[in-house]
Amino acid sequence: MLAASRLEVPSEQLVRYRRHLHAHPELSLEEFETANFIERELRDAGLGDLRTGIAKTGILATLKGGKPGPVTLLRADMDALPMDEASDVPYRSKRDGAMHACGHDGHVAILLSSARALARVRDEIPGTVVFCFQPAEEGPAGNKMMIEEGALENPHVDRCFALHLYSGLEVGKIGVRDGPFFASSDRFRVLLKGKGGHGAMPHTSVDPIVAASQLVTLFQTIASREIAPKDSVVVTVGKLQSGTTFNVIPDHAEMLGTVRAFDESIRLSVPKRMERMVAGICSALRMEYEFEYLWGYPPTVNDVKMNDVVREVGAQMLGAQNVADPYDLNFWAEDMSYMMEQRPGAYFVVGVRGPQLGHEPQHSARYDIDERALEVGFKMMTGLALHG
Ligand code: NI
Repeated sequence: MLAASRLEVPSEQLVRYRRHLHAHPELSLEEFETANFIERELRDAGLGDLRTGIAKTGILATLKGGKPGPVTLLRADMDALPMDEASDVPYRSKRDGAMHACGHDGHVAILLSSARALARVRDEIPGTVVFCFQPAEEGPAGNKMMIEEGALENPHVDRCFALHLYSGLEVGKIGVRDGPFFASSDRFRVLLKGKGGHGAMPHTSVDPIVAASQLVTLFQTIASREIAPKDSVVVTVGKLQSGTTFNVIPDHAEMLGTVRAFDESIRLSVPKRMERMVAGICSALRMEYEFEYLWGYPPTVNDVKMNDVVREVGAQMLGAQNVADPYDLNFWAEDMSYMMEQRPGAYFVVGVRGPQLGHEPQHSARYDIDERALEVGFKMMTGLALHG
């Protein structure tokens, strides 16, 4: 830990890395240039123990320390979002239809700079550090793919940490919270099969729009009347499609939506509740249905002991007044949850909100950060690596 506070913060390098990556964003599972850039910089710093091409473009760099201690995995996600950048900053995206609007460019810059700095003080590292550069956080669950390709073994990882830049918090601060930090994210599809007919003769049809309308409101009773008020769940119908014109009752109605929860037992109970409601409405209104529930990312749950490590490192590196604890719950979802299901770990957010920059929310076409946040991330990642 003392060693971490002695490490010089490579401010210029952090900004240079981040701006290069920001200008050259790549979408999920296409992060080939990003991976090449990371590999070149790691090798240049003497980090030769690399596993590349993990989950297509992922990289694992292992650094053995000079002191006994745990195997600590530090993770950065690498992918950008399929959208155009609206800002006209000098480092704006050079690629149409791709933008680092979630801050993953900053995550890579932080972890890469941390790896390079730690390689110079490897004798002081307790245990081993695995630097995990992960593809495809924005949807295809690159984290899960990396686990399936052995990311948590050889060496056997004991604990893991990850951060996210966050516009909800002032630059200089981190946000910490015990237990659930981010929600689960699942999807559903309901197809209601009615019987079409003339809009003026509803008694000769079976109207799927009437059924869908009732289901939208009925689903809201899962949160308001079935789950205890102290707990939380979100059931959102995001797409409801049916019909073609004003005087025709259609055959079908399709509903798509998302379900979010912080508690795994509540999460697991939702599809049964939803299907009971779908079946009930369809039975009452004489129609058939299809119900599909697609499991996505589980809740991201912090281990209390690992969170204590984050608190301790945060207090030493940033000052206790800059550790916001407990930080707000956030209904985002995050695939780091898969590693944190298998190993004790902690996830925290790093504030990017400065006087001028860092106010736009994540996934905004004008997303940008106060780049001093990169220094905070660097201090945290090096501090965690040097904490025995
Ligand atoms: Ni993100």
